[in-house]
Amino acid sequence: MNVHAAALAKAYPFDEATSAFAGDVIGDLARHPKRLSPKYFYDATGSELFEQITVLPEYYPTRTELGILRDRGDEIAAIIPGGAALVEFGAGATPTARLLLEHCEFAAYVPVAISGDFLKAQADGLRKDFPDLGIYPVAADFTTPFALPEAVATMPKVGFFPGSTLGNFEPSEALAFLRSARQILGHGAQMIIGVDLEKDERVLYDAYNDAAGVTARFNLNVLVRINRELGGNFDLSGFTHRSIYNRDRHRIEMHLISRKAQTVRILGNTFAFRPGESIHTENSYKYSLPRFTALARSAGWTVRESWTDANTMFSVHALVAD
Ligand code: TRP
Repeated sequence: MNVHAAALAKAYPFDEATSAFAGDVIGDLARHPKRLSPKYFYDATGSELFEQITVLPEYYPTRTELGILRDRGDEIAAIIPGGAALVEFGAGATPTARLLLEHCEFAAYVPVAISGDFLKAQADGLRKDFPDLGIYPVAADFTTPFALPEAVATMPKVGFFPGSTLGNFEPSEALAFLRSARQILGHGAQMIIGVDLEKDERVLYDAYNDAAGVTARFNLNVLVRINRELGGNFDLSGFTHRSIYNRDRHRIEMHLISRKAQTVRILGNTFAFRPGESIHTENSYKYSLPRFTALARSAGWTVRESWTDANTMFSVHALVAD
């Protein structure tokens, strides 16, 4: 708990998670430039909007990754040892893990995610379709060390990190995550990871500024959540969604831009916005194949295979722990 959260916990009868949310929001909006943490996007509405993003015509990553996994299913199956456990970091509702489970003979599936309720629902669905698979959900923050279930201790481990979620980390965090995954999975483990590639800026721009405005609603939803859960008074029509490609840093940046001079009150704090002032809400880093290979290397992994689609939009890699 940070200092804001501690003071707020005294003043407001919040549960622990809401106090942490309050502390982060108040700290992050007091910074210059202002920012909000992407981890607060995913309330029920945010998760639903994200599902909609993954099927937008402009949003190529999800369907391109699924296409690669489908086309290369036999090659992937061939390098996975029999009786292995698939450990998915940040398991979501997307059908990506199912595709791997269908193609390969895994003995166990270990979805790791923060939300226990969501994990349980997902596990129940999978049990019906894969009756012989041992399913052992772990409710944990996958960016920090956690213990694997005892039941998979002796099985070969295969990590799974799809969706280019790696790109939502700062480069230093991406390195730390890959090192930690290497530590958790252990010597001789493998990892299947999906990484979005650098490409024409227009294609990137459109993927994060879709014509139907779903990404805009997803981004703005964090303000809705602050209003609802923390009693904020953000005027939603006073902010507009903008994603830009920062070429020097190889990343898409998502911002919420204040359309006017305005002040917002949250839990007794006042935040002033200039016209055009931004709240930076998320980054999505794009990699070249050599830059990803170098990153994996420095984290203790060797790239065994790299697959891309025919237009080299997206990449899937099989890594082996050194
Ligand atoms: N990791 C994916 C990406 O960066 C998914 C994602 C996270 C996303 N936040 C997003 C997609 C916001 C669209 C908008 O593309």
